[in-house]
Amino acid sequence: MNNSSPVLVTGGAGFIGSNFVLDWLSAVGSPLVNLDKITYAGNLQNLVAAETYSGYSFERGDICDAGLLHRILNHYAPGAVVHLAAESHVDRSLLGPGDFVQTNVQGTFCLLECVRAYLERLSPARRAEFRFIHVSTDEVYGTLSPGDPPFTESTAYAPNSPYAASKASSDFLVRSYVHSYGFPAITTNCSNNYGPFQFPEKLLPLMIANAVAGKPLPVYGDGRQVRDWLYVGDHCAALRLVLDRGRVGETYNIGGRNEQTNLDTVRLLCALLDELLPESPHKPHEGLIQFVADRPGHDRRYAIDAAKIERELGWRPAETFATGLRRTVEWYLANRDWMEQVMSGAYQHWIDRNYAARGAANQ
Ligand code: NAD
Ligand code: TYD
Repeated sequence: MNNSSPVLVTGGAGFIGSNFVLDWLSAVGSPLVNLDKITYAGNLQNLVAAETYSGYSFERGDICDAGLLHRILNHYAPGAVVHLAAESHVDRSLLGPGDFVQTNVQGTFCLLECVRAYLERLSPARRAEFRFIHVSTDEVYGTLSPGDPPFTESTAYAPNSPYAASKASSDFLVRSYVHSYGFPAITTNCSNNYGPFQFPEKLLPLMIANAVAGKPLPVYGDGRQVRDWLYVGDHCAALRLVLDRGRVGETYNIGGRNEQTNLDTVRLLCALLDELLPESPHKPHEGLIQFVADRPGHDRRYAIDAAKIERELGWRPAETFATGLRRTVEWYLANRDWMEQVMSGAYQHWIDRNYAARGAANQ
C-alpha cells in the first residue's frame, strides 16, 4: 500500500485492534482510521495514547451500515483495510449466535461490497496498491487429536462452534471475492492471542482477575484441551508484514508454536502470581482452581503450522510463552483500574449467565 494513504482498521477498539492501532502508530506512524461500533468488547480507554498522534482518527459505527462505510471510504480514501471487527467469544456464540452471524457474516459482506464499489472509483495505480487484510482464526479448521499435525493453510475447514462457523463463512466470502472480482484480499488465520487489553471473559485475563480477587478459577472439563498461544504484539508485527509483503489471494496461518494445555497455562499463571504478589492472602493461587462443567462441543486441540509466513515473509514470534506470559501478568497487575472499569455491571451479568449453570464438575 501507499504509505501516505491511511489504513482503515475495523474493530480497532477491541483487544487485538487496540494493540494493532498503538503498534501501527508507533512503528509505522502513517495515518490510521479506526472504525468501531464499541460493543461490550470495545474500549476507547485502550486508545488514549493514540489520541496524541495527529494521523489518528476514530469513527464510531457499525460495519453493517453501508451508508456509513461509503462515507468513510470516500472521506478518508484509505489505501488498505485491516478487518478485525467481529464478535469473538465462543461461549457467547453458544448462548446467542445471532450477533455472530450479523457482524461476522453480514458485516463482512457489507464491508466487502462497499470496498469493492470504492475500488472501482480508484485509479488503476491506486487500485493495484490497495490491500484488504481479513483477520480470521484457527478455529475454522475445527479440532485436532493429540498426534495430528498442526493446521496448515490447506487444512479443510470444519468449524464446530457458531463463532467458528461465522468466521469460516466470512473467510469463504473473502475467498470468493478474490476469485470472482480480483478483490485484493489476504486472509490470516491466527491462534489464541494473549496480552494487554484483552477483555476479561477470555481465559487469561479472567483467571488473573479472579485470582487477584481470591475467586475460583473455573477450568472447563478436565483442563486438558490444548491451545497454541500467540503474544498479541507478535501477531501485530505479522499483520504489518502481511500488509506490506503478503501475496494477494493467499492465506497465512499465524501461531506461536506454543501448545499448552489449559490446566498447565492456569498453573503457570498461578505460579507467576505467587511470585509477583508475595503478600497475597490467596497464595498459593493454584488452590483456587475449580473444575467446572465443560463447554458444549469444546474443541480439544488447536495448533498452527506457521511455516508459510516464516518462510515467505521472514516472520518469527519474538516472545516465548514464559516471557509473554510474564509481560501479560505484569501489565494486568499494573493496570488494575483498567480491569475494574471494564468489569462493569453488564459484564457481571454475563459472568452470571455463563458460569452459574456450570456448577463444579467432577474431573
Ligand atoms: P474483540 O472482541 O476484543 O474486539 C472486537 C472489536 O470489534 C470490538 O472493539 C467491538 O466493539 C468491534 N465490533 C464488534 N462488532 C462490530 C460491528 N458490527 N461494527 C464495528 N465494530 C464492531 O476481538 P479480538 O480478540 O480483538 O479479535 C479481533 C479479530 O481477531 C476478530 O476478527 C477475531 O475473530 C480474530 N481472532 C481473535 C483471536 C483472539 O485470540 N483474540 C484469535 C483468532 C482470531
Ligand atoms: P477462550 O479464551 O474463550 O478462547 P477460545 O475458546 O477461542 O480458545 O478459551 C481458551 C481455552 O480456555 C478454551 O479451551 C476454553 C478454556 N476456558 C476455561 O477452561 N475456563 C474459562 O473460564 C474460559 C473463559 C475458557
